[in-house]
Amino acid sequence: MNSLSDFMLPPAKSTLAGQTDALFNFINVTSLIFLIGITFAIIYFSWKYRRRSENDVTPVITHNNKLEITWSVIPLILVIIVFGWGFTGYMNKATPPNDSYEIRVVGKSWLWEFHYPNGYVSVGELHVPEDRPVKLVMSSTDVIHSFYIPDFRVKKDVLPNRYTSLWFEATDPGESVVFCTEYCGNAHSNMMATTIVHTQEDFQSWLETAGSADENLTPVELGEQLTTRNACTTCHSVDGSVLQGPSFQGLFGSEAPLESGETVSVDENYIRESILEPQAKIHEGFQPVMPSYAGTLDDNQINAIIEYIKTLD
Ligand code: CUA
Repeated sequence: MNSLSDFMLPPAKSTLAGQTDALFNFINVTSLIFLIGITFAIIYFSWKYRRRSENDVTPVITHNNKLEITWSVIPLILVIIVFGWGFTGYMNKATPPNDSYEIRVVGKSWLWEFHYPNGYVSVGELHVPEDRPVKLVMSSTDVIHSFYIPDFRVKKDVLPNRYTSLWFEATDPGESVVFCTEYCGNAHSNMMATTIVHTQEDFQSWLETAGSADENLTPVELGEQLTTRNACTTCHSVDGSVLQGPSFQGLFGSEAPLESGETVSVDENYIRESILEPQAKIHEGFQPVMPSYAGTLDDNQINAIIEYIKTLD
């Protein structure tokens, strides 16, 4: 905290990050030079041309060609440089290389879901190989979100009913944070994920073993992992505290009051329905904001989550 690095850009960990930073720094430094120059000119001229006596009369100056051309041409050149530089960077970021590794990204209130070519789905963790262009094809199931990885200097809106894409090539193995940068409701500030950059071999072995590690867990253990991995716990606490949704603690077997005025017994069927079709029954006092997990969780995973919730009494 409060070190100089807190005021600097985050580390540049993608191939195009350096280009973005160079332009950013050029604009900042140029602005700073002009700020200092103009400020001193104002102070100096205020002093130099101050009124010295009652009879001081300002001469009438209609124009000065040399001066006017100078102060028009210098900014024009600067603007052309910034435009050319910025447009080149924009085009580089807009055109993913043909051999990009493609990952589908789904934004939901309030989590990020990543679908890999082999069918594996991770939530809240984006796994990518280093030194290989990765293209993200993104959409939202509800409102507008925005996908932002500061370390890679990439950001793009994620829209319902339309695909947007961005690409990057990560240069360092390690972790980088993903933010949602479009205000999207109560838990917008919690709509984060972690980008995990693996070496190419590690990525291949991660992809091959992803999901199969779950087979060695008991249903309750798997359920517990899934609730954090799928960001359930962003909105549902496990200790009785009330977040965006009802707490999982003491939920199973309870009689839940619904917005419609009825009550419902929370059993296996109710939890399953709530996961696949969350809008079907809304608990009294809560907003109908949960996204559906149909297509994200399979039957085995839903069973595991139910078994886990059962243990939270
Ligand atoms: Cu999603 Cu803000």
